[in-house]
Amino acid sequence: MKTYKLAHNTIEDRDWNVLINFLKRRSYPNQAKVTRKFEEKFSYFLGSKKSVFVNSGSSANLLMAQTLLEGKFLKNKIVVLPSVSWSTTVSPFIQLGYKAILCDCDKKHLGISIEHLEKICKKYKPGLLVLVNVLGHGNDYKRIINLKRKYKFQIIEDNCESLGSSYKSKKLGTFGLASSNSFYFGHHISTIEGGMVSTNDKSFYNISRAIRAHGWARDMDKAFKKKLEKKYKIDEFKSLYTFYYSGFNFRSTDLNATLGLEQLKKINKISKTRHKNFYYYKKNLNDYWSQSSGLTLLSSFGYATFVKNRLEVSKYLKSKKIENRPIISGDMSQQPFWKKHFTNQKKLPNATFVDRYGLYLPIHANLTKLDIDYISKCFKSLAKPIFF
Ligand SMILES: Cc1ncc(COP(=O)(O)O)c(C=O)c1O
Repeated sequence: MKTYKLAHNTIEDRDWNVLINFLKRRSYPNQAKVTRKFEEKFSYFLGSKKSVFVNSGSSANLLMAQTLLEGKFLKNKIVVLPSVSWSTTVSPFIQLGYKAILCDCDKKHLGISIEHLEKICKKYKPGLLVLVNVLGHGNDYKRIINLKRKYKFQIIEDNCESLGSSYKSKKLGTFGLASSNSFYFGHHISTIEGGMVSTNDKSFYNISRAIRAHGWARDMDKAFKKKLEKKYKIDEFKSLYTFYYSGFNFRSTDLNATLGLEQLKKINKISKTRHKNFYYYKKNLNDYWSQSSGLTLLSSFGYATFVKNRLEVSKYLKSKKIENRPIISGDMSQQPFWKKHFTNQKKLPNATFVDRYGLYLPIHANLTKLDIDYISKCFKSLAKPIFF
């Protein structure tokens, strides 16, 4: 029986050969020139000025959270986080002492609920909004930008599930001060493990480059480095071991960047196929949730459905070797780690629904129409729709 995995391996023989040749040349394997090139090409692809390659999407999120603080980009440490998101979308803000508030999700695309966001803004005047583009879908950017103007918060985007998705020819991951992407094995493209922070802000870029590696200035643009050396009166000898920011070590290597450069060549094709697969699924399974986010390109990560008898359906699909998952965190406020930190969380009705009934199906770029028909047929033979 054929297995229908959630993720497929995007690293092909050609990519491994490029990597083998890189190794044969005994090139310097640490973070160096190839990483720079990958960062440049990725920025060009995304439509962002600068990017910082790190060892995972989770590190990218933590790097953004720390850069916002070290660079004093926020008016306060109150952050609004999406209830339907990922553990490492929200954890950095708990770890770094932000005051975290969960926002309910929208019924059309599982991004932020604008109505709930506005209520939170009125009551708490947050300094930061974190957006997650869920399973390839986007958010209501126009209305969010209006709220940003009104309440003066910063925005960052976790785009780890939506690489390639675009809204009116603008790529998701370019709507805020910075964004994260993930290149985990089986994601849209992969560097085995890997992630990227992208931004148009020079200062954000330079500070995040420092925080990526210990907090030193070596990886910053020369002008930024010089300014710091002048400010703190650091001579040439001391400069190598002077730490200006409270840093981490999130570096990846040129080995991973070599793979990244090869993978990047395929992203447009992969996104288009994922888009096509999404609409083919939608034709088959619209009764299980009529989802939409008005995107011009939907580089889908998984096909989301809502099912009354979810556990039964999930088990049946598993018996047919069709992998399936809950819709990411479900309601974050119900996750054990969240409950340990926050004891009096108010109900989030839409996220509660997602938590109870959400299930997503494989949609990767190696699936054919026949595969999708087969998966849809197995799914429909048992799944009872429930209206969201
Ligand atoms: C929304 C979201 N953010 C962050 C991550 C973490 O990415 P990584 O696995 O590269 O650490 C994931 C993982 O899939 C995710 O779905």
